[in-house]
Amino acid sequence: MNQATFDIQPVNRFGGSNTTIRRPKEIACFSYDQDRRFSLGDASIAYYYPPSLPADLNIGFDTFQKLNDAADEHLDALLDTIVAMEKETGKMCETDIVTWRGMLTKILTAPFDMMNGFEMNATCYQVRPTLRHNVRIKTSATTFHSIDITSRFIEENNSYKNRQKELQRNQRMPPGMASQELMMYWGYKFEVLSVLRKPWDPCTRDEIENRQNEVVNNSAQYCSVVKTGMGNVRMVLGGEVDAVWDCKPDRKEDPIHWVELKTSAEIRNDRDMLKYERKLLKFWAQSFLLGVPKIIVGFRDQQGIVHRLEELETASIPGKVKKVGRGSWDGNICINFAAAFLEWLKQVIQGDGVWRIRKVEKSHVIEVYKVEESGHGDILSSTFKTWREGS
Ligand code: A3P
Ligand code: MG
Ligand code: MG
Repeated sequence: MNQATFDIQPVNRFGGSNTTIRRPKEIACFSYDQDRRFSLGDASIAYYYPPSLPADLNIGFDTFQKLNDAADEHLDALLDTIVAMEKETGKMCETDIVTWRGMLTKILTAPFDMMNGFEMNATCYQVRPTLRHNVRIKTSATTFHSIDITSRFIEENNSYKNRQKELQRNQRMPPGMASQELMMYWGYKFEVLSVLRKPWDPCTRDEIENRQNEVVNNSAQYCSVVKTGMGNVRMVLGGEVDAVWDCKPDRKEDPIHWVELKTSAEIRNDRDMLKYERKLLKFWAQSFLLGVPKIIVGFRDQQGIVHRLEELETASIPGKVKKVGRGSWDGNICINFAAAFLEWLKQVIQGDGVWRIRKVEKSHVIEVYKVEESGHGDILSSTFKTWREGS
């Protein structure tokens, strides 16, 4: 099948109770440092500590060290982490889909986000573990030879991402409104003002107060790699988490109290309320996918001053939107839609080649078509293929 389409509408067919969801569980993590150097592990983890209010998010804009993310990083860091984990644990990562959390956010929110589009590349990769894996990693021979790992790998189409960023940069802002660049800075500045680089306990008052003077650099990141699933689809997702509320627990099976940090404009009228509710869809989807239980929103005025914080429980957002909000979106529909779409996608993306998964702006259809008849494009790194092929 070279071309297939999946209609998002009518969304009501995805209503009703939820399909089964597997609670996201962290299986590995990696970090980027301030120079964007990759390392396995939690070197760049940050600890939440409330900012002092009012907080001026404009300070230091002239010294912002902004990451140039125009280059195509494919799934490289995620795949490196999976390879390291497989070598360490001696177990193959059996899953249906491997991708960045950002791709799943776009799919999960698609039923209530007609305006935006997306473009992704996908490939299917099947491997029967070879004797080499069997020798190098301690798994019983009988189980090992019976498994046959077929996963779909999905990346963002980088030229589409760059085109969108360019459009966003050139967008004309209404008079009196801050530029896109400045507003983006506000988001990162809020993060710096709300975290500590080590747990609160050994931090001195000076270290807490010095957050004000820290140069904002958005290269450093902690990324969590989680195993999760919806319906019959198992997934491994990688995505950034902003901070932890306390500390990562010692026991691997315990949930981690992650915190997502967000800024949003103060709500002054009904129109702002609706806008905020639509934003909550993105906040919820992004956090739900990695199992981030809490979102801290810093409400800012039009000048970029945060006057008030609100703590949201991720799990309670869809209920609130339905009961006390306008009901502009429905979390159950999002989950059931995503499960159905991904199940369908598993059937479409089979065998050799590269597919494009595309939704055009304002369209209600997701198109999937082949762009390369053979190979895996650049989606899979050579490190990953070499490891999996056991050559
Ligand atoms: P805000 O969300 O507070 O505006 P994240 O919240 O996902 O951790 O991202 C941190 C910040 O990165 C955002 O803070 C925003 O400043 C910037 N950012 C993330 N995605 C963006 C996008 N698509 N366009 C513009 N800025 C973005
Ligand atoms: Mg973030
Ligand atoms: Mg954030």
